[in-house]
Amino acid sequence: GGATAVARAHSNIALVKYWGKRDAALNTPAVGSISVTLAALYTDTRVTFRPDLSGDEFWLDGSRSDATRVSRVLDLVRRRAATDRYAVVSSTNNFPTGAGLASSASGFAALAVAAAGASGLTLADRELSILARHGSGSAARSIFGGFAEMHAGVAADGSDAYAEQLLEPADWPLSVAVAITERGEKSINSTIGMGESATTSPFYQAWQDSAADDLAEMRAAIAARDFARLGELSEYNCLKLHALMLSTRPALIYWNAATVAAMHVVRGLRADGVPAYFTIDAGPQVKVLCLPADSAAVRGALALVPGVHEVRMSALGPGAHRLE
Ligand code: DP6
Repeated sequence: GGATAVARAHSNIALVKYWGKRDAALNTPAVGSISVTLAALYTDTRVTFRPDLSGDEFWLDGSRSDATRVSRVLDLVRRRAATDRYAVVSSTNNFPTGAGLASSASGFAALAVAAAGASGLTLADRELSILARHGSGSAARSIFGGFAEMHAGVAADGSDAYAEQLLEPADWPLSVAVAITERGEKSINSTIGMGESATTSPFYQAWQDSAADDLAEMRAAIAARDFARLGELSEYNCLKLHALMLSTRPALIYWNAATVAAMHVVRGLRADGVPAYFTIDAGPQVKVLCLPADSAAVRGALALVPGVHEVRMSALGPGAHRLE
């Protein structure tokens, strides 16, 4: 016994975003970030360590997939647990894979929790966050529910680059609408994109230099439960990131026509007195923050945008946990 464990982790969306690495090998971020974890989108992952394997096997939604990043996380677990057994990892998303709903955050957080469990390790959330970070930077935040902050850290060994919880979901219930403007999206991978921004954009230094101010203001908005301040700052930070992406060579243009149309609809909702604010990651989908009382109005407005295929609503969700 003890060779298998199953875990569930929810996706998250950054309000102050991570883009750029301090150390690529340790996958430490160049800037801190703040996110909300989403109840509606999650990954379930089963990890089984077996004596008869000659390498790790990774299955994603039933298809054999590349195990390189998975093995990076499992190698750290093997070293800590002093085992040389390889593992079968099988992950399923509760949302369509390839719909551009960022599965790496939920996927690597679920992997960290399941792999630690299957190897018999008992790790604190901070250590699980560091483990998840090695798979994907944004995954470090999905260890926590509600609001989480990822620290860029300064240590050469990456030991202070982890996320922490700022608020539980019930401390400030918010809604997030996800407008899907493209199915089967083929975007440039974040890891590659952020590397190109760091080496080619004249705005990269300014992006790094202005991160601390955005993080401090977002922390203050969250502490004060000031939704207008949180939303305005989320849009500002998102558009600053996309200015950095657009000024990368070759340009990283993640938006399509429906992405832009949805942004204008959100601003129109505000002009009509509905507090709603957008944020967009390295893809064409638009995530809209609103108060639970306005979620039907926001959903309805987004559903009417030409090119929006579907709108998924979510509350804030819990942290990564084991399933039995
Ligand atoms: C735009 O976490 O996918 O979503 O660490 O290289 O795997 P890697 O990058 P990843 O980047 C996420 C970028 C973002 C912003 C964010 O989630 O903070």
